[in-house]
Amino acid sequence: MTDLESKPRVFSGIRASGDKTLGNYSGGYRQYAATQETGDAFFCIVDLHSITTEFSPADLREFTLAGAAMLFATGLDAERSTVFCQSHVVAHAEAAWLLGSVTSFGELRRMTQFKEKSEGQDFVSAGLFNYPVLMVGDILLYQTEIVPIGDDQRQHLELTRDVAERFNQRFGETFTIPRGVYPEEGARIRNLQEPERLMSTTRGTPAGVVRMIDEPDVIRKKFKTAVTDSEKEIRHDPAAKPGISNLLEIMSVASGEPVAALERRYEGAGYGQFKEDVGEAVVALLTPIQERYRALRADERELQRLLGVGAEKARRASEPTLEAMYDRMGFVKPEAGRLFGAARPRGL
Ligand code: TYM
Repeated sequence: MTDLESKPRVFSGIRASGDKTLGNYSGGYRQYAATQETGDAFFCIVDLHSITTEFSPADLREFTLAGAAMLFATGLDAERSTVFCQSHVVAHAEAAWLLGSVTSFGELRRMTQFKEKSEGQDFVSAGLFNYPVLMVGDILLYQTEIVPIGDDQRQHLELTRDVAERFNQRFGETFTIPRGVYPEEGARIRNLQEPERLMSTTRGTPAGVVRMIDEPDVIRKKFKTAVTDSEKEIRHDPAAKPGISNLLEIMSVASGEPVAALERRYEGAGYGQFKEDVGEAVVALLTPIQERYRALRADERELQRLLGVGAEKARRASEPTLEAMYDRMGFVKPEAGRLFGAARPRGL
């Protein structure tokens, strides 16, 4: 067995929309960098997902390049991992269409992310409803075993497993059944002003959202004004003390110290000092990332070159699965030889 064969296949995706947050770091970036060490890893900037909610062409372009720069700035290495853009590998759009036939309307209607993102919107796109099917395809195309994600993506991952099993039963073994990997601490980072909500740039009070590219003083201020709980004790108890529990988890993510050790260290300390320390730990974490990010983002040609290398590897890796899907579903090939994939025009 070669080294590559013995490594589990890892896949995860991150949207090219809005500025990325400390929540994305906790459930996303840091897990990607860690799993790249142990697995044969694919990380995708899911630009096709980004057009399911309001967007502008200029934003899509900017967030795609920013997304690529941030993946490299947080530790992905283009040599070891395959980092690519979803729209550069046409198999993703095709897989979503095919898998739509084995995903039910009822399943999609139950998705909480759809309910949350469509609530109160004037225009809810059909794409937003179908979004999870595209995600199912992203994962299954690569025979993925491990999907590092945050807790908010759990329901989508469960759907992926259900759809994979259904397809396998109906058309024969085609897909590996993937497993979600969630961080032990920090799987759901919350808004600092509204600890009952997920930290996200699309929803919730902006003052409670720490962005990866926030200036150090902005970060300090956000932590200083973070909402805490009435009872003055630094203890991890998300149900009773959501504000302070969130800060403990953030401190743990930023410093690498387990929450239990932090509770001991801050026993008897005041909220003010603790909040200040959390802010400083986050500044220390993000400052070097921001420096690398700025250098990488400034060189668009190099980013595009790296994405080109990733796209080529991703095309090769996904092609056999897409071909097997078409074949097992009964699609006719026009002539002898390989026609799905290789015979089609590709590339941008
Ligand atoms: P996205 O772009 O919203 O988020 C990227 C990753 O960040 C995690 N995350 C969080 N983790 C902890 N606390 C938070 N507050 C927080 N906010 C975000 C997310 O769980 C995610 O892991 N649908 C996906 C993108 C996607 C995908 C995929 C992921 C498309 N195809 C295939 C995995 C596999 C999304 O919108 O993530």
